[in-house]
Amino acid sequence: MKLRAVVVILGFLAGASCARLKPNVTLLPCESPEAQAASQLALDFINGQNTHGYKYALNQIEEFQLITKPDGTEVYLLELEFYETKCHVLDPTPLPQCKVRPKIETAIEADCDVALTKAGDLFLVAAFKCKTETEKDRCVGCPRLRPLNDTNGAHLVQASLDHFNKNHSLNAAFVLLEVGRVSSQVVSGGAKYKAEYAIIETNCTSSANDICAPLNHTVARHGFCHTEGSGAYMKVGCDIFVPPPPPVDPVTNATLPAPPTVLLHAHTGGPGFTPEIHSLTHHKLTAFHDPNAISVLSESDSFEAASIVKREVVADAPPAVSQTAGKQLLVAICPAKKIHF
Ligand SMILES: *[C@@H]1O[C@H](CO)[C@@H](O)[C@H](O)[C@H]1NC(C)=O
Ligand SMILES: *[C@@H]1O[C@H](CO)[C@@H](O)[C@H](O)[C@H]1NC(C)=O
Ligand SMILES: *[C@@H]1O[C@H](CO)[C@@H](O)[C@H](O)[C@H]1NC(C)=O
Ligand SMILES: *[C@@H]1O[C@H](CO)[C@@H](O)[C@H](O)[C@H]1NC(C)=O
Ligand SMILES: *[C@@H]1O[C@H](CO)[C@@H](O)[C@H](O)[C@H]1NC(C)=O
Ligand SMILES: *[C@@H]1O[C@H](CO)[C@@H](O)[C@H](O)[C@H]1NC(C)=O
Repeated sequence: MKLRAVVVILGFLAGASCARLKPNVTLLPCESPEAQAASQLALDFINGQNTHGYKYALNQIEEFQLITKPDGTEVYLLELEFYETKCHVLDPTPLPQCKVRPKIETAIEADCDVALTKAGDLFLVAAFKCKTETEKDRCVGCPRLRPLNDTNGAHLVQASLDHFNKNHSLNAAFVLLEVGRVSSQVVSGGAKYKAEYAIIETNCTSSANDICAPLNHTVARHGFCHTEGSGAYMKVGCDIFVPPPPPVDPVTNATLPAPPTVLLHAHTGGPGFTPEIHSLTHHKLTAFHDPNAISVLSESDSFEAASIVKREVVADAPPAVSQTAGKQLLVAICPAKKIHF
């Protein structure tokens, strides 16, 4: 069967006075190895930019397009759906082993448009924009997310951290780095709160010292704690992430300088605290990243379907199929199947 390119023509709302040339847009298959490679690269890149909150996992590829601009340059555009995992950005657990948060815990979803260029066989991320939201369908009686600076949540976090500091044998006192999430649920005994938070080691060796300053990120031990409390009941558990040993020169056995660590900016406490994020219920991915001012991102607007004015698909054509090395590839069948839910 011969390849039929499905061409979609984007119409742009006439905002500016000058009429723009329309770029050609070709829909590419979402199930292809090329789409998988491009989306994996985009996921790693966006996670690499994420300096707070949790790591994200890819749920599905919603669209994969090749855009040929009037000047002949080609840009690939991926529309991706991510889900927040339970692994904090400091958690060294490899992403494939990080569990996606189930709906009952209020899943966080991010829709990202990613512009990529291709050099030979290699994709490069040129720009992206992301919109992060909480899942809408929540059940009656399920835990509800609270703002990250919720007063009861903050009390639970501090009380549980004080308890943890008195009760571990790590010869150090930890302070709060950032609150990851806070939820509350109405149970028979009243309100039950749950919180997750990241901690950082200080220069104090015991919680009995009063002036403790966080160590710098390169040398500090970090940790991630889960706590819950209701009335007088409280429990807390923290995973401590030990920094990897410094690299060693394979020839001389000399210790090399440690690679630069992720520059964290904590939203709810600790070094790099940015108070304006306080009242949100969840951490958002970087919303916009476009160092090369790739105009295709501002032109594409997958969040507002209305910007696609005209969609020309070859009428009464059978599903487009191409032969690639004896393997049938469905063309432009999007979205690619769901991975997580
Ligand atoms: C778009 O495709 C049409 C038909 O293939 C071609 O004539 C036109 O030059 C293309 N425009 C651009 C900007 O590449
Ligand atoms: C440490 O935890 C154990 C077990 O939960 C508890 O029995 C003990 O009282 C705790 N110690 C302190 C100092 O909080
Ligand atoms: C920790 O560092 C702070 C600031 O440098 C200092 O004031 C404090 O005395 C130190 N605490 C300990 C226990 O060394
Ligand atoms: C972090 O602290 C260590 C030990 O105190 C020091 O050698 C290193 O230069 C510090 N790094 C930064 C980035 O401040
Ligand atoms: C480096 O360490 C390895 C393993 O400890 C040892 O076998 C080797 O002789 C060392 N090389 C040098 C140059 O010290
Ligand atoms: C949470 O943060 C918002 C924005 O900074 C602030 O208006 C609000 O008073 C804070 N709430 C609490 C309980 O601190």
